Amino acid sequence: MEAPLEYFRFASWRKRLKNRITGHQALEVGVGTGKNLPYYPREVEITAIDFSPGMLKRARKKASTDDLRVALIEMDVQQLDFPDNYFDTVFATFVFCSVPDPVAGLKELKRVCKPEGKLLLLEHMRPAMLY
Ligand SMILES: C[S@@+](CC[C@H](N)C(=O)[O-])C[C@H]1O[C@@H](n2cnc3c(N)ncnc32)[C@H](O)[C@@H]1O
Repeated sequence: MEAPLEYFRFASWRKRLKNRITGHQALEVGVGTGKNLPYYPREVEITAIDFSPGMLKRARKKASTDDLRVALIEMDVQQLDFPDNYFDTVFATFVFCSVPDPVAGLKELKRVCKPEGKLLLLEHMRPAMLY
């Protein structure tokens, strides 16, 4: 169902996001079926998490066909099992609309991202309403 949106809109946004992923270590949260995997920069070590085993299964299949070196781990963004100030870039696409406690998740992203690191979010937003 999302294929037209992916083709006409999301793919170009994913490419723009990819160009901003820098440093040695990056974290993708809510990797889903792995739609960002083809855009991962090869020079950055990427860890990707999702709390859905079903989504991770599909992402792993995609990672193996694309011959990518990425660690795919089952984990909840609201309680990340990574040290403080660890990642150079932390990114997520279309995730925080479905995180049960988004504020807890965002606090975790801040904790695991280096102070000089980057947090990149591509998210659904509620449109401005005109009354
Ligand atoms: C709409 S999908 C987006 C998937 C992918 N990022 C993309 O751009 O296509 C949202 C993903 O976030 C994951 N997710 C939601 N809440 C999460 C949480 N608390 N911890 C980890 N992953 C979560 C879901 O399992 C799902 O795979």
